[in-house]
Amino acid sequence: MTAQLNPRGDVAVLVPAAGAGVRLGPGRPKALRLLGGEPLLVHAVRRLAAAPSVHTIVVAAPVAEVAAVRELLAPVAPVIVVAGGAERQASVAAALAAVPAGPTIILVHDAARALTPPELVESVAAAVRDGRDAVIPVLPVVDTIKEVGAGDVVLGTVDRSALRAVQTPQGFRRAVLSAAHAAAGDSLTDDAGLVEKQGVTVSCVPGSEYALKITRPFDLALAEHLLAAGG
Ligand code: CTP
Ligand code: MG
Repeated sequence: MTAQLNPRGDVAVLVPAAGAGVRLGPGRPKALRLLGGEPLLVHAVRRLAAAPSVHTIVVAAPVAEVAAVRELLAPVAPVIVVAGGAERQASVAAALAAVPAGPTIILVHDAARALTPPELVESVAAAVRDGRDAVIPVLPVVDTIKEVGAGDVVLGTVDRSALRAVQTPQGFRRAVLSAAHAAAGDSLTDDAGLVEKQGVTVSCVPGSEYALKITRPFDLALAEHLLAAGG
């Protein structure tokens, strides 16, 4: 059944989904690769649409797949689909430009984080609603991290207690994200990085193991297990 979005919600979610998925190996663009028989993008959008604050979802699709993505998502939720760009940042900018008037909170969420629970969407949005300019979900880093130089020689051990692995959705006051994109120079893989460059304070909330980014074949196999177990 097609989900309804909340016409009184205050959140627009941008979903960059235009990447090729080179690290996943040969095949269709990653957002259209199957997980439990359905494209990653369908899983991601279904979970976003289940978050009660979401008013608008804008997907940035691979240029050659815009019509196909529109058709694919029509039965899932009412979404706006635009053509993505060559870099993730360009895809996010294209999606941002398509957000209608109304939502005051913008979340940016990778289609590749297909199993992200609606509760994480709500907790990031709530932190922005509470007055934060920019909010990212994070997890502690579990491995020991070394800095390594030429010849694979260890230069030192990084203090892990101060490190966090960053996920999406990343949440922003609308004006903050718009200003950061308007001023953007170098391409970054993360939207919080853009607003950090503007001197904006970025706050953390606890992330979720289910928000893992499906990047390599191992991640897809893990996601298959999580989905089969009810994730
Ligand atoms: N993305 C995008 N536009 C691009 C590049 C990436 O919208 N030009 C999106 C991807 O579709 C993905 C998210 O950004 O949902 C995170 O990127 P990543 O995991 O790197 O996906 P890909 O770029 O598709 O993968 P790879 O780098 O292995 O090719
Ligand atoms: Mg990429």
